[in-house]
Amino acid sequence: MCGIVGYSGYRDCSDVLVGALSRLEYRGYDSAGIAVFENGKIEVAKCKGRLKDLVAKMEIDGKPQGNVGIGHTRWATHGEPSDINSHPHSGEKVTIVHNGIIENYKVLKEFLIEHGEKFLSDTDTEVVAKLLGYYYKKNPMEPIVTIERTIKDLEGSFALGIVFEDFPDVVFATRRESPLIVGVGENESFIASDVPAIINYTKNYYLLDHDEIVKLENGDVTIYDDHGDIEEKELMTADWDMDAAEKGGYPHFMIKEIHEQPTSINTTIKPRIVDGMPNLEECSITLDKIKSFKQIYIVACGTAMHAGLVGKYVIEKLAKVPVTVDMASEFRYRNPLVGKGDLVIIISQSGETADSLAAMRLAKKLGAKTLAIVNVKGSSIAREADMLIYTHAGPEIAVASTKAYIVQLSVMYLFAFELALAKGAITQEQCKALTAELQNTPGIISDVLEKTLEITQYVGTKLVATESLLYIGRGLDYALSMEGSLKLKEISYIHSESYAAGELKHGTISLITDGMPVIAVATQSDLLEKTVSNIKEVKARGAKVILVAREDFEIDEEAYDYLIKVPKMQDILMPIPTIVPLQLIAYYTAVHRGNDVDKPRNLAKSVTVE
Ligand code: G6P
Repeated sequence: MCGIVGYSGYRDCSDVLVGALSRLEYRGYDSAGIAVFENGKIEVAKCKGRLKDLVAKMEIDGKPQGNVGIGHTRWATHGEPSDINSHPHSGEKVTIVHNGIIENYKVLKEFLIEHGEKFLSDTDTEVVAKLLGYYYKKNPMEPIVTIERTIKDLEGSFALGIVFEDFPDVVFATRRESPLIVGVGENESFIASDVPAIINYTKNYYLLDHDEIVKLENGDVTIYDDHGDIEEKELMTADWDMDAAEKGGYPHFMIKEIHEQPTSINTTIKPRIVDGMPNLEECSITLDKIKSFKQIYIVACGTAMHAGLVGKYVIEKLAKVPVTVDMASEFRYRNPLVGKGDLVIIISQSGETADSLAAMRLAKKLGAKTLAIVNVKGSSIAREADMLIYTHAGPEIAVASTKAYIVQLSVMYLFAFELALAKGAITQEQCKALTAELQNTPGIISDVLEKTLEITQYVGTKLVATESLLYIGRGLDYALSMEGSLKLKEISYIHSESYAAGELKHGTISLITDGMPVIAVATQSDLLEKTVSNIKEVKARGAKVILVAREDFEIDEEAYDYLIKVPKMQDILMPIPTIVPLQLIAYYTAVHRGNDVDKPRNLAKSVTVE
């Protein structure tokens, strides 16, 4: 999704903007641009392509020289990626960058055309720029009044960075639904879509609420509420630093983040375990509060939804509470039978996914209690949920989610243990034993990383020329296969499907041809025999089987071509160590194929539009 930045201070603004945008690259984009005040005039540089294309363009055309400006990376929604559709866009005496979608842009465009405006691009953003210009003419030298009046007309989502020709030292910004933070340094200030953009300048930032407006001027920050009155806000401090936002010697963020998983789990679960028992009181979750839920919905998108699938198996098995897992985009439009007495769990790394946020609001409206499991502090989902468990994965930069997924799993386990206890479905002793086993997972993952790096690299070389493959598993292994398959297709662009092993015979087995790779997951002791017979069925039809299995399982060598062993844990906890080789297979296959692993084509890290 688009990334926006803005700067007011004393440094070379073009450099600051390009640097900050480069740390938002993970969001996905197809064009980039900046607008900087040079000798009191707004100079724009923009083009289709990557930031390096913008830098190359500025080397030829000249880099805007100044200390105040705004910048943008665009992920096309309205209008193809092109130089003209790139941001910034301008209206009368005003230039803007925008993240989000203006739903009523057509009506507004017609209105503006009737009033003599001419449009250069196909974007909804240019409509906002022209509308700002229109209201500025009516309210000359009144930027705040102009912005307030303009956003009253807008429907949809937006984070806007705005500069007015008449205010050459000032950057304005506002937001509704789309994320925006305001960084505060010494004699300099920033706006950005996300904290990594500014972390090498400052750790201190404000979160803007809907329709608030901020003014950055000579390092001072003034925030106006939705009535135009100045307000004081709480200054937040990022609890991670530049190193976390840099690759730290790894070739890609994804592999760095895979290696960070033991630490991420540790940081996430440690504060929530007291005397060997799960304790979620700091998240306002108590045994008393959760014991009455009879029905649970887990709603999320992408990888977070896959964490929910594991959660379903674990909660149902341990706490005996029925769980329905929904994709947020389906949940919100299928009139879900959710109501009072139900719990709706929303899982989201970014806390800003448009469908997940809308699903949560719907659940609240229908009377359900909501619990958010979120990684990004202060994000919209985190702010609006009734109960909140932060995952402490730190910033996840690679588009393909790895460490955020594993900590979502760890939190699902803690919650399931607590719920099972509250329901009287497990004893204190059983709960303690499960919690102790969960505490072992960081060490076990480190072990898996060490032992499977080589074999997964090798398997990656075998998959490099594959056009299509299957993942199979049963029960928790099936839930995990879904995530393994998604990871592979996201970054390697190989067509991949995940199937419940027992369901293969009902259609999908017809796809198996000689030499087709099948990645089989077998970690559940009660399902082992059945899974192995499904593996043999595909093997007999020519499949090349890559088997990921628990190390102590004795499996007939005839059943597989390559074996990746995972250390033994209790069945229910096996997803945590087992996801690691699946992540590594996806990573190395994509690397061998020469793909842009951290920024796969067409994907965005945080999907803030429907
Ligand atoms: C995008 C990302 C995925 C992510 C999904 C949900 O599709 O590329 O990695 O799993 O959104 O994002 P969330 O921030 O809500 O977890």
